Amino acid sequence: MAETIRQLISEEDVDRRIYELAEKISADYAGKSIRLVGILNGATFFLCELAKRITVPVSIDFMQASSYGGATESSGTVRIKKDLDESVEDLDVIIVEDIVDSGRTLAFLGDFLKGKKAASIRYCTLLDKPSRRVVDLKSDYTGFEIPDLFVVGYGMDYDQKYRNLPYIGVIEFTD
Ligand code: IMP
Ligand code: MG
Repeated sequence: MAETIRQLISEEDVDRRIYELAEKISADYAGKSIRLVGILNGATFFLCELAKRITVPVSIDFMQASSYGGATESSGTVRIKKDLDESVEDLDVIIVEDIVDSGRTLAFLGDFLKGKKAASIRYCTLLDKPSRRVVDLKSDYTGFEIPDLFVVGYGMDYDQKYRNLPYIGVIEFTD
C-alpha cells in the first residue's frame, strides 16, 4: 500500500498557535516556574517550540509511555517505558503531549505524577481528537481540536516515519 500525506495544518499556523499557547501559559504561571514533562517521542518537537516561547523559568524532563507501535489503534493499556529523571515533588508541572486520542496516556501519567506529589499538574497538547475519548480527560492547553483522523508530522509518526515534517498532515493509504 502506498502512503501519501495531505497537509492539514500548515507550519505557519502551528507556529502561531504555539506562540499563543506559550503566551497564555506564561501569563497563568506569572511569578512561578514550570517543570515541563514531555512525553517521548512525539511531544519533543512541540515541547521545544513551546519552551522557547514561555517567558517564566522552565525546566524539562521526559517520560515515555507504551505507544501504538506500527498500528493506528491503541491497545488500551498504558505502561511506563521511561520514568522521570528528576523529582517533581512540590513543582508546578505541565505534561506536554503531541496528541490526545482515547485520553488513556495522559490520564495515566497525570495520576502517576499526582502520586509523585507534584504541587499542581496541568495538561498541554498540540492536538486533541475529542470524539475519540474513552476516559474523562480534559486538556488545559490545546493547540487544535481535530476530527478522527490519523495525523503525522511535527513529532508525530506512523510506524516511526514522518516525525520531521514541519507541518501536520493526514496519512492516506492507496493501493
Ligand atoms: P491515547 O492514550 O489514546 O490518548 O493516545 C495518545 C498517544 O497515541 C499519543 O501520544 C500518540 O503517540 C498516539 N496517537 C494518537 N493519535 C495519533 C495520531 O493521529 N497520529 C500519531 N500518533 C497518534
Ligand atoms: Mg505520544
